[in-house]
Amino acid sequence: MSPSGTFSLTAILPVLPSSLGLLETTLLLLLEHCDHLSEIILFSPETVQRNVRKSLRGIFDPEERLSQVEVSLLPWPPGLREDAASLHMSRQATTDYVLYLDNSGFVGLDSETLDVLMLRHSASTASPVGPRGISSSTSGPVCLPALEAPQPANFLLPPFVMPSSLVPEIELSPDPQYGVWSTLGERISGSRHDKLGGLVVGTNITDSDWCLSKDTLGHRPMSNAGPTDRRLQAHFDHRHPPASHRFSSLVSHTSPPRPASGIIALVLPQLQDLVHFSLTACRLRQAGYTVDTLLYADTGDHVDLVSSECKLDFRILPGLESGLSLDQAILGWLEGLSHAADVIIFSAPDNDLTTQTQATIQARFTTVPIVEIPRTDLLFCDWMGSLTLLEWKNWHKPRIDISVITHKRPRSLDRLLSSLNNARYFGDRPDMRINIEQDADMDTMRAVEAFRWDVGHLFVHHRIVHGGLMPAVVESWYPHSNDSYGLILEDDVEVSPLFYAWTKMSILRYRYGPQENKSPQLFGISLYQQKHLELRPEGRHRFNARDTFTAAGLSDPSTPYLSQIPCSWGAVYFPEHWREFHTYLSLRLSELAWDLEQTVVLAVRSNKWRKSWKKYFIELVYLRGYVMLYPNYEGYASLSTNHLEVGSHVKDVPKDVYMRKKKLFELPLLPLPAHEDVPRVETGLLSLPGGSLPAMHALPTLDLFGMVTAEDMLVERGRERRWELTGCGNDVQSTYDIWEFLCLEDMFDRASV
Ligand SMILES: *[C@@H]1O[C@H](CO)[C@@H](O)[C@H](O)[C@H]1NC(C)=O
Ligand SMILES: *[C@@H]1O[C@H](CO)[C@@H](O)[C@H](O)[C@H]1NC(C)=O
Repeated sequence: MSPSGTFSLTAILPVLPSSLGLLETTLLLLLEHCDHLSEIILFSPETVQRNVRKSLRGIFDPEERLSQVEVSLLPWPPGLREDAASLHMSRQATTDYVLYLDNSGFVGLDSETLDVLMLRHSASTASPVGPRGISSSTSGPVCLPALEAPQPANFLLPPFVMPSSLVPEIELSPDPQYGVWSTLGERISGSRHDKLGGLVVGTNITDSDWCLSKDTLGHRPMSNAGPTDRRLQAHFDHRHPPASHRFSSLVSHTSPPRPASGIIALVLPQLQDLVHFSLTACRLRQAGYTVDTLLYADTGDHVDLVSSECKLDFRILPGLESGLSLDQAILGWLEGLSHAADVIIFSAPDNDLTTQTQATIQARFTTVPIVEIPRTDLLFCDWMGSLTLLEWKNWHKPRIDISVITHKRPRSLDRLLSSLNNARYFGDRPDMRINIEQDADMDTMRAVEAFRWDVGHLFVHHRIVHGGLMPAVVESWYPHSNDSYGLILEDDVEVSPLFYAWTKMSILRYRYGPQENKSPQLFGISLYQQKHLELRPEGRHRFNARDTFTAAGLSDPSTPYLSQIPCSWGAVYFPEHWREFHTYLSLRLSELAWDLEQTVVLAVRSNKWRKSWKKYFIELVYLRGYVMLYPNYEGYASLSTNHLEVGSHVKDVPKDVYMRKKKLFELPLLPLPAHEDVPRVETGLLSLPGGSLPAMHALPTLDLFGMVTAEDMLVERGRERRWELTGCGNDVQSTYDIWEFLCLEDMFDRASV
């Protein structure tokens, strides 16, 4: 197995929040397959150290594997980029060889390549070896793929392995594009007569993505890709299906985010539809996707479509005299694409065609998601340009249920229902539930009767015992599955026509994207922007997220953010957290956990709220360290607003006080942009940092009082409070199980309560 000679190897591994999910796989591969491994040096930003330690505890059963391998977890050297930091760390290695990994670990590499990196076959090497090399040619750098035979390169990018003797004793100055790796290569090649900076070894299944990857060094946005990059892309355009190999199952589940690649097929009626959709199509192309377009009902007598952004090619379906049906012709085109489509976006001029054609396509392409967008919504789809392939593929998974709670405000109800009917749903068919209080007036009943909801199913519920707002809200919706989301709307709320787009975009990003964008702490998505803070003990404060972030020194204060405050003026709640809340509320109201009078969160004003579901939700949120996503568009432009009308919350207030208060809470709704006779419009939803919803770790977090706080800190505060209240200090996983969390199982039999 092991080659002759005993030599030792240190693995250097940077861990970023985005690569935490991969850490375990990477370490297991090292431990199980690297016979020479004697040291692992991990380094990570302060914020993730705790999580890294947790992963390490999970892997290193002290009894077992650990014996010969020494593991150090060090703080990220301040001010250094990933490449420079790795090189810096490797100076501590005391072994014969160093193996540099980047934060994507071994993803995408096959077993042969791993053997090379782990020095399993070659007894030693005098140069850096690895599967990713760059050679400088007169026209700029060229990426070298791994071929059968080793290829000389000017320098290598991680992962690669080299003798420790080549580690420089001084810090190297980084090259702007390739960082210190390029400089290291120069040093190494400069000292050799053959000018070799490294050898590219491995099999040629290597994914081409690294070559362009912004992850390679972490700081190069795709949109800045220069002409060189384009050329390189062309160089690598063809892919080879990975051979089956022994590591594949381990490696492939947890692919990190890669620069975009994938085929999106657009099947639209006419050129005008493509023009309407062009912002989306161009953005997807810019991100690296291939967009193939078929216009199936166009006459073809147009000039080329030239948009300022990009030039979009399209095919026009030839006349159907050949006896093919339209469906067959569309299928034929889809089947003839040089690469099979990963997602099909389809729009039909009328509903009959939709159902039939979509069914035909779906029957042929059973595993490809077909996203059907009404023709009239194509103009408002710019936000879809920010979706990644994975998010597109999950398009159909989440289901959003709309839950309306109404009592005695028929005019308010009318306004809410019309705003819901005027919103765009982009082909989704959400169901709606209207929950009517027992003593609702006749006008409210009539408003419900007159309402038509053609988007999805409509259900109407009426109480027989007056419940008050708490059960009215809390019982208005319960998740059916973990893909079921509840939009809770009291009748004095009004929504923006774009509310659904914001909701869907956020859910796809933070629930159906790559692992690093998911957080078990995220309990929902607010449509409403915060303009006041209600929970500080001294009373109400004005709040402006952008000012807060500017003051905190954030580079882009226009970022959406996470806040612990649950929003009741238009918000979507997630299934796991809502279920947990139901259980918590039952426990709380039955006084099983503690007295009704018990203060759970110290010094918040909600403690004074009577009969408020939010008061209890705040308790749960505080104990768990949960957060909700909030929009932060210019000028408080919001996806919902509250008209603060006389009802359960607002009673017996003098008129002028009421009008003043009402003004405080009303926000401008993000409108549908003017769209008469315009070729394309921007919805404004992408007025975000970098034109896209930020990665989860980049979102700032606010506590209940609106102070910028680390998410870890919130969890820690809740844990302390839990300990004070229950004496229960065990480490809990995110199981959404409140019984376990409050250690009630030790005291009660769950089944008998
Ligand atoms: C990869 O290997 C195959 C044969 O195994 C060969 O046909 C192909 O040209 C190689 N690809 C590259 C990029 O060298
Ligand atoms: C839904 O989520 C809960 C909480 O994480 C989990 O216990 C349960 O198994 C999930 N259900 C399904 C069907 O995945």
